[in-house]
Amino acid sequence: MYYPCELEAYLGGKKLLEIKNLKKSFGSNNVLKDISISVEKGEVVSIIGPSGSGKSTFLRCINYLERPEQGSISFAGVNFKAETVKKENIKYMRENTAMVFQQFNLFKEKTAKENIELGLKKVQKKSKEEASRIAEDLLIKVGLEDKRNHYPAHLSGGQQQRVAIARAVSLAPKIILFDEPTSALDPEMVGMVLEVIRKFVEEGQTMIIVSHEMNFVKEISDKVIFMNDGYVVEQGTPEEIFELSKEERTQQFLKRVNNH
Ligand SMILES: Nc1ncnc2c1ncn2[C@@H]1O[C@H](COP(=O)(O)OP(=O)(O)O)[C@@H](O)[C@H]1O
Ligand SMILES: [Mg+2]
Repeated sequence: MYYPCELEAYLGGKKLLEIKNLKKSFGSNNVLKDISISVEKGEVVSIIGPSGSGKSTFLRCINYLERPEQGSISFAGVNFKAETVKKENIKYMRENTAMVFQQFNLFKEKTAKENIELGLKKVQKKSKEEASRIAEDLLIKVGLEDKRNHYPAHLSGGQQQRVAIARAVSLAPKIILFDEPTSALDPEMVGMVLEVIRKFVEEGQTMIIVSHEMNFVKEISDKVIFMNDGYVVEQGTPEEIFELSKEERTQQFLKRVNNH
């Protein structure tokens, strides 16, 4: 059978996502100066770094919530340049990624189950029955089957975030982008949310996670990226970053986080 060469490379188990020399400014503020990363299928890549270093902006550029000005993006066999991005490229990035935000961002007028069903019906045009079945399965996976008919206002932060994760997973994205998924939670809620993320990692879900939960990052990641001031300062295995870091800025950051 004939495959175009990019698709063949993808099917051969090479990089799922490769971003090269990505740049993004807000006015005169050069927030992302030169970011290159690659993610393989099934990998968990974590991004750590100080506040304001551009981590959220970078995730938002991946699914085109923000428009990068420069850079090349290759995602599951589709290649394009930010400079000449087409509408269909943006649509492709949005359809194949899902984002989980710090502030959950559930629809307030919809129940837990309806929040999960919405994208399945509207975006993926699944039947009512199929959407309901997938939502029920996911509610069980995130431990919220007894809360299916609750509105977000009647769920704890941790429960809302578990619904948001279920909603992200429901669309079977090639990659999930987590932006500090536990930062807005009371400490006692964090563990359950991390458990749910871990469960989807075990199922092979590819993800990029921005997080300050260093123990979780250490344990769950295949690769850790330290970002500072719009650059990738250092990247490597958890051991290479947390134990054997070669960069002073990484070491200073880790020392500061550990003293908290
Ligand atoms: N929509 C925006 N408009 C203008 N400046 C922004 C916007 N979003 C982020 N920034 C700026 O980009 C920089 C990096 O922010 P951000 O990506 O949120 O960093 P991090 O997530 O690492 O804390 C900050 O200086 C921030 O003020
Ligand atoms: Mg951020």
